[in-house]
Amino acid sequence: MPDRPEPPLALVIGGTSGIGRAIATRFAAEGRRVLVAGRDAARGEAAAAACREAGAPAAAFLPVEVGDPASVAALGETVAAAHGTPDVLVNCAGILQSGRRVLDQPLEEDAAIWRVNYRGTLLACQTFGQMMARAGRGAILNVGSLASFAPLSLPAYTASKRAVLALTEILAAELGPAGVRVNAVAPGYTLSDGLRARIAAGERDPEAILATTALRRFVQPADVAEAALFLCSERAAAITGVTLPVDAGWLVLAPQAQYARGNPVRP
Ligand SMILES: NC(=O)c1ccc[n+]([C@@H]2O[C@H](COP(=O)([O-])OP(=O)(O)OC[C@H]3O[C@@H](n4cnc5c(N)ncnc54)[C@H](OP(=O)(O)O)[C@@H]3O)[C@@H](O)[C@H]2O)c1
Repeated sequence: MPDRPEPPLALVIGGTSGIGRAIATRFAAEGRRVLVAGRDAARGEAAAAACREAGAPAAAFLPVEVGDPASVAALGETVAAAHGTPDVLVNCAGILQSGRRVLDQPLEEDAAIWRVNYRGTLLACQTFGQMMARAGRGAILNVGSLASFAPLSLPAYTASKRAVLALTEILAAELGPAGVRVNAVAPGYTLSDGLRARIAAGERDPEAILATTALRRFVQPADVAEAALFLCSERAAAITGVTLPVDAGWLVLAPQAQYARGNPVRP
């Protein structure tokens, strides 16, 4: 009897918590093999166990520090040797920022955010994009933000996420001829572990946030996971280079509401 082909392999970097963990478990529920990568081994092992529980035929945690080129290269070698070329790479590792003015932006914080959000995404795209291009197949999903489209008062974070959008577009053009698609999602305010912690610390106002969305709701990590699954599936076979907002209508409400302040809608 011929060997059954192995189920597709999804590597979720930044899959140890929040949005990345939701994406990893959503791929698992589709019967994919899943690799969860990040720094925190305890959370990573728990996420891998959640993937197995959700239906992944195999799931494991692999350590990585995305800001360190040697660490990303080591992850690439481990994955290639033990699992082969991933069918899907999700770049979800990222750090958030709290509100600041550009003129007050400390350079150390700027460098730390750039190193993870942009450089980490770039390094993983290089390492696994090369493998996928050689294999002649694959889908990469980067994680942008509202900041990929709008000038948020988060100078370092916004620059890093705009850069992720640009990287997604350039890479989609480069890798398309090799059969590799590259897209991104741009989550709005998403109730991840990271955002919950910032709300608990008083750094985000949940009531005010709800009022800024057309749908008057938070995005759930599972909402982003659905978009991720679609963009990385064959159903999106003709889609590459897009950054898809999953934002409960924040991007449309913000300019519409601002405009209406100066030109009120009359009955
Ligand atoms: N929550 C939102 O409202 C929102 C909105 C738009 C975009 N996003 C984006 O969504 C992504 C996930 O955010 P989240 O809200 O789910 O936050 P989260 O719960 O804090 O998750 C962040 C993830 O990134 C990983 N990570 C951070 N620094 C890393 C590093 N140096 N090396 C390797 N992994 C690293 C963390 O893993 P370890 O701690 O194990 O390393 C964790 O898995 C980020 O890119 C964020 O910018 C979030």
